[in-house]
Amino acid sequence: MRASWISFAALAVAIQAQEVYLTTTGYSARPQCTQSNVAPNYHFNPFSYTLDETVRMRYATSVPSPTTTRKYGPPYTDAIKHLITSWSTSTWGCWIPEQTIISATDTEDPYGQAAWSSMWLQADLHNYTTTGLFSTTVSPTPVPSSELVLPPRDYFGPIDCYNFPKDSVFGVAGSAAQVEGAIGLDGRSPSLLEKLVPDSKPKDYITNENYFLYKQDIQRLAVMGVEYYSFTIPWTRILPFALPGTPINQQAIDHYNDLIDTVLDAGMTPIVTMLHFDSPLMFVANDNITKRPDVGYNNAGYQNETFVDAFVNYGKVYRVPLWVTFNEPLLYAYNFKGVDHVVKAHAEVYHFYHDTLKATGKIGIKFNDNFGVPKDPKNFSHILAADRFQEMQLGIFANPIFLGKQYPKSVLKTLPGAKPLSKSELKHIRNTSDFFGIDPYTATIVPPANEGIKACAINLSSSNVLFPYCVKQETKNIYGWNIGYRSESYVYITPTHFREYLYYLWNTFRHPILVGEFGFPVYAEAERELSDQLFDSPRSIYYISFMSEILKSIYEDGVYVMGALAWSFVDNWEFGDYAQQFGIQAVNRTTQQRHYKKSFFDLVDFVKSRQLHKD
Ligand SMILES: *[C@@H]1O[C@H](CO)[C@@H](O)[C@H](O)[C@H]1NC(C)=O
Ligand SMILES: *[C@@H]1O[C@H](CO)[C@@H](O)[C@H](O)[C@H]1NC(C)=O
Ligand SMILES: *[C@@H]1O[C@H](CO)[C@@H](O)[C@H](O)[C@H]1NC(C)=O
Ligand SMILES: *[C@@H]1O[C@H](CO)[C@@H](O)[C@H](O)[C@H]1NC(C)=O
Ligand SMILES: *[C@@H]1O[C@H](CO)[C@@H](O)[C@H](O)[C@H]1NC(C)=O
Ligand SMILES: *[C@@H]1O[C@H](CO)[C@@H](O)[C@H](O)[C@H]1NC(C)=O
Ligand SMILES: *[C@@H]1O[C@H](CO)[C@@H](O)[C@H](O)[C@H]1NC(C)=O
Repeated sequence: MRASWISFAALAVAIQAQEVYLTTTGYSARPQCTQSNVAPNYHFNPFSYTLDETVRMRYATSVPSPTTTRKYGPPYTDAIKHLITSWSTSTWGCWIPEQTIISATDTEDPYGQAAWSSMWLQADLHNYTTTGLFSTTVSPTPVPSSELVLPPRDYFGPIDCYNFPKDSVFGVAGSAAQVEGAIGLDGRSPSLLEKLVPDSKPKDYITNENYFLYKQDIQRLAVMGVEYYSFTIPWTRILPFALPGTPINQQAIDHYNDLIDTVLDAGMTPIVTMLHFDSPLMFVANDNITKRPDVGYNNAGYQNETFVDAFVNYGKVYRVPLWVTFNEPLLYAYNFKGVDHVVKAHAEVYHFYHDTLKATGKIGIKFNDNFGVPKDPKNFSHILAADRFQEMQLGIFANPIFLGKQYPKSVLKTLPGAKPLSKSELKHIRNTSDFFGIDPYTATIVPPANEGIKACAINLSSSNVLFPYCVKQETKNIYGWNIGYRSESYVYITPTHFREYLYYLWNTFRHPILVGEFGFPVYAEAERELSDQLFDSPRSIYYISFMSEILKSIYEDGVYVMGALAWSFVDNWEFGDYAQQFGIQAVNRTTQQRHYKKSFFDLVDFVKSRQLHKD
């Protein structure tokens, strides 16, 4: 009797020990250790297998289905009727090279089939394929419970004592161009993304075929307990001719109405982004699509004189209560005029939504910016370098939009053609975002240019590799260590810098923060076999550490973090590449079958177990 009592006690201690985790501040910090001076007591016990996975088996818990039909703004069809009476709708069908152009006889109509087809001819795509496996919407099949068993947990985990505030927005994100495919179908016209990627690399023609598989994809999220689904709607499908006064695509309205309804019917809440790099191709003359190695592609047509009015017009079609105008505009706007247009177009859409429509939802903008931290935080010139990096990437948009403050001096002095905003412009643009959207994937180490910022900036040409920042961006700290655990790409696991970043953003721009994307492409994941891809502990560490830091940020730093959206809900097309896998689901590209990764379970489990305030 005594022996078995001891073995139960030993088991209890063993289980308890698994719940004791080390802090991230080093192995000497052991706040929960009370027995460090107890001498060992070696002894024998009968052995039995105690780690029975089946005893502790748990399933992911689905979001509850809504009991009533949820209203979420009027459907598009209504929105259009009430807003712009002169708008008409039309359909164009599918672009199938050769066939479409032959059948088009309406050459007189500026927005007819022939005009639409000629946009595709001008786009001059190579290796174009219309569809992959599917050509019509696929009915969802229930996800078997065998796919919903929680994976074994990692040994180390969070120590925290906090719950997420009520109404926190936690969910997953994706973007049309990266998952939809069907680029020439149902009236969509060409976007920038069809031209950006060289022919030697995979294109966005098919990707995950989410245009046909959205019902299944949405169901797979709902059964995992995802509450918010953030997606994007291609401008080129809603308004194939992009400009004000051109007809709306009825097939697009029907499709995205159904997509939104499917999300609502599944018990989730949609978040929609207007523009996620997929600008209508017409804004960019072909010879002006060039790649800038430092800041990405530099031309999404933002600087085109017709862009602002067209974007604002397109914004009038949007009626969801939580939405984003621009995704990461820096990547494409780096040219002063492009930035200026983004700032003004965003403010105009905000004013239309809140002042003209008197709509009460939340509208914002979301930025990319890997937090620039001074390489030597004790060295003032490194602090100035980090400040400059931040203001040239973020302040350039956020000064006017959030604070009504002028473009940063560094921007006005450095970017060719930069002009200050007038007092009345600043007043109009001030406070035109209901939240501060940020995609804070990682941090970057920032020292000044070797010759110093001043010397660099005084004689700066755009061919300088440090243009326009005059600071360096490095991945190793001052002692030569990587800033964190490295991924397949630029992302390193940097949770403590992330918390510092949230503190910086809140106290600088003073608006609720929505982490619009965060995620981790595990190193060489695509080369591994499926079962190994699915056991993605580095990604779990990334998510759990970042989420823990959000909690500390909220409760210990007083920072208002509205929520966070994991990028991406599935492995997808990363602009010419499938090797950078950011997904919390894997995809078999032959069958389009999706598979949940461990990190997906870990993330939803972390959130669910900390939502005790929920009604
Ligand atoms: C596209 O076609 C070209 C030849 O026209 C070929 O060299 C290239 O490899 C193809 N690209 C892809 C991704 O199939
Ligand atoms: C600007 O956009 C218009 C379409 O509105 C297009 O016709 C024109 O070529 C674009 N200009 C440049 C320089 O890309
Ligand atoms: C390409 O961009 C340059 C610089 O913005 C401009 O001068 C030129 O006219 C553009 N080319 C075309 C064909 O629009
Ligand atoms: C501060 O950083 C600058 C630029 O890297 C360097 O030239 C200078 O020697 C540093 N000063 C100190 C005190 O380390
Ligand atoms: C910004 O606008 C919001 C919503 O209208 C308002 O509640 C808030 O007080 C404004 N903030 C500032 C600093 O003007
Ligand atoms: C300015 O930069 C150019 C290269 O872009 C260089 O040749 C020249 O020496 C620099 N001038 C000064 C004063 O540093
Ligand atoms: C994709 O699925 C098919 C059918 O189940 C299977 O034969 C194939 O090995 C899978 N491909 C990969 C890369 O796992």
